[in-house]
Amino acid sequence: MISNFNDYLKKYKESVESPEKFWSNYAENFKWEKKWDDILEWDFRVPKVEWFRNSKLNITTNCLDRHLKKHSKKIAYKWIPNDPKEDSISITFEQLHVEVCKFSNVLTKNGVKKGDRVCIYMPMLIELTIAVLACARVGAIHSVVFAGFSAQALSERINDATCKLIITTDGSYRGDKEIKLKEICDEALENTPTIKSCIVYKRTGSEVKMRNGRDKWWHEEMKGTTNIFEPIVVDAEDPLFILYTSGSTGKPKGIQHSTAGYMIYTSFSFKNVFQYEEDDIYWCTADIGWITGHSYIIYGPLLNGASSILFEGIPSYPDFGRFWKIVEENKVNIFYTAPTAIRALEAKGLRYVKPYDLSSLKVLGTVGEPINEDAWNWYNENIGEKDIPIVDTWWQTETGGIMISNLAGVTPSKATFATLPLPGIQPCIMDNDGNELNNLNVEGKLCIKFPWPSMARTIYGDHKRFKDTYFSTFENMYFTGDGCIRDNEGMYRITGRVDDVIIVSGHNLGTAEIESAIDEHPNVCETAIVGYPHKIKGNAIYAFVITQGDIKNEINTRAEINNLIVKNVGPIAKVEKIQFVKGLPKTRSGKIMRRILRKIASNDFSNFGDTSTLLDPNVVEEIIKEKI
Ligand code: WTA
Repeated sequence: MISNFNDYLKKYKESVESPEKFWSNYAENFKWEKKWDDILEWDFRVPKVEWFRNSKLNITTNCLDRHLKKHSKKIAYKWIPNDPKEDSISITFEQLHVEVCKFSNVLTKNGVKKGDRVCIYMPMLIELTIAVLACARVGAIHSVVFAGFSAQALSERINDATCKLIITTDGSYRGDKEIKLKEICDEALENTPTIKSCIVYKRTGSEVKMRNGRDKWWHEEMKGTTNIFEPIVVDAEDPLFILYTSGSTGKPKGIQHSTAGYMIYTSFSFKNVFQYEEDDIYWCTADIGWITGHSYIIYGPLLNGASSILFEGIPSYPDFGRFWKIVEENKVNIFYTAPTAIRALEAKGLRYVKPYDLSSLKVLGTVGEPINEDAWNWYNENIGEKDIPIVDTWWQTETGGIMISNLAGVTPSKATFATLPLPGIQPCIMDNDGNELNNLNVEGKLCIKFPWPSMARTIYGDHKRFKDTYFSTFENMYFTGDGCIRDNEGMYRITGRVDDVIIVSGHNLGTAEIESAIDEHPNVCETAIVGYPHKIKGNAIYAFVITQGDIKNEINTRAEINNLIVKNVGPIAKVEKIQFVKGLPKTRSGKIMRRILRKIASNDFSNFGDTSTLLDPNVVEEIIKEKI
């Protein structure tokens, strides 16, 4: 583990000068069925990246079996239910190993083989981690879909990955709501021809319809299965999982990750960023449906033999002190959350924080969007009591692991700055003309110029889109889609997306998906959505909508539009404001000038930049006049 700033500088230098040596040294800590022939082959122009070539392994051997000698009785997860009156459940590494082996047998019995895609649509339960790990153990590719997505979004993702089997629950609890997941799943499965079986874990006990031949209860399938399952050996570059993320255009992208490289980097980054020590209690509040949950609830912590809290609920239930109550009761040492949660808790005031003893905390973390200074200070003063480091971790679904972040207490922190790259990560800032900005005090677009082990290998089924999206904007570079500043100390500050992805409450949303949902409304001709700053959510969505025909009731139409979004994407994508307009600002070639709409939505009418290509300037004035 990197233990001081000089050590970081030394390791960083080594990792850049001889990356192959750096990563192969670290890889010696793991269990391989066969070691690599060579470490790295790459060409960003193809793009092709291969790490630990021709090595053979199974990641679950490293997450579970490897710890059984020393840590068999150690808690892997302590699950905390949504309702504080319900009992929590702990599972040791040994028990988790047993359950994963048993469920691997269930998957095999249901015809799942190496390379098959399995969809997982579950709330935050220990069984979700078992399902994920069992897929990895049998060599299948898991595709976890966040349980807040709608039936339509779910079936789109199932069909894109041509999944064979889906694992879900009867329902889920979120605060005072019960969500009937199986019903949503049933609707999705109406048009997913590749799904042959659906395994249902009983969580809420509410009544569900089980379709004969397709649907099976988890507990019945598990009955009588043996707890031995020899892990299926896979190649380093065999895909471990697919995880969908929104893009600027078109449908969501199935980001595909490798096995060995992902394993090495999530393990390395977890340990070093959080400075994880053997007896720490670690809690990441993300959902396993997103990359943060994959890398830093499942793989990173398990690879390090860590004990984690797994929380089913939400920060506001039964009241806004829930997070801090859990920290106190479980003596949490490392706490990792998102700026949107911090802002929401800050807004409710200190009376929800003060009653709790937070003295167990050693490290605080944040991820998902830029953290504003006010939220950073509140987190630092009231949760960390100005005494413990905050790690501001910048990374992406595509990067697999944390890329730019301070290492807790080891490298300097700076409010609102992700600070410095991890060893092995070579960031650079580019200007619009494709020149690298090498100096201090520069601002531009953030790229990475050398491969790192956990980088995405492709977009499932669409390598060309992978190339076009990430490797074509700048030659021989991975383009992140984020804007970035390097300050006078060489520290990196991420300023936000520079494409049409909008991050709302930490969730990435693509404009195209939401616009096409709105366009389904019979009175809508055309729509443009943009993000604008929101106090709690970071960004909220503003829709400019051209309508046709007679709209009798604007309030109803607004509600109908949001219903369509909920149906097509999910409640996370609802728009905050809808303005009905007669026209949209377009260029002569018909492209919507979102830059202008973004400014209008943010109430900034001052400087629209170059508007010479605007087809009809009057449109802009009209929109401003009727701004809501
Ligand atoms: C943003 C989440 C500023 C960024 C792990 C990135 C951040 C996108 C930070 C990826 C941070 C994530 N500071 N911005 N610490 N962390 N972002 O794929 O815009 O859900 O490109 O991965 O979130 O979001 P994703």
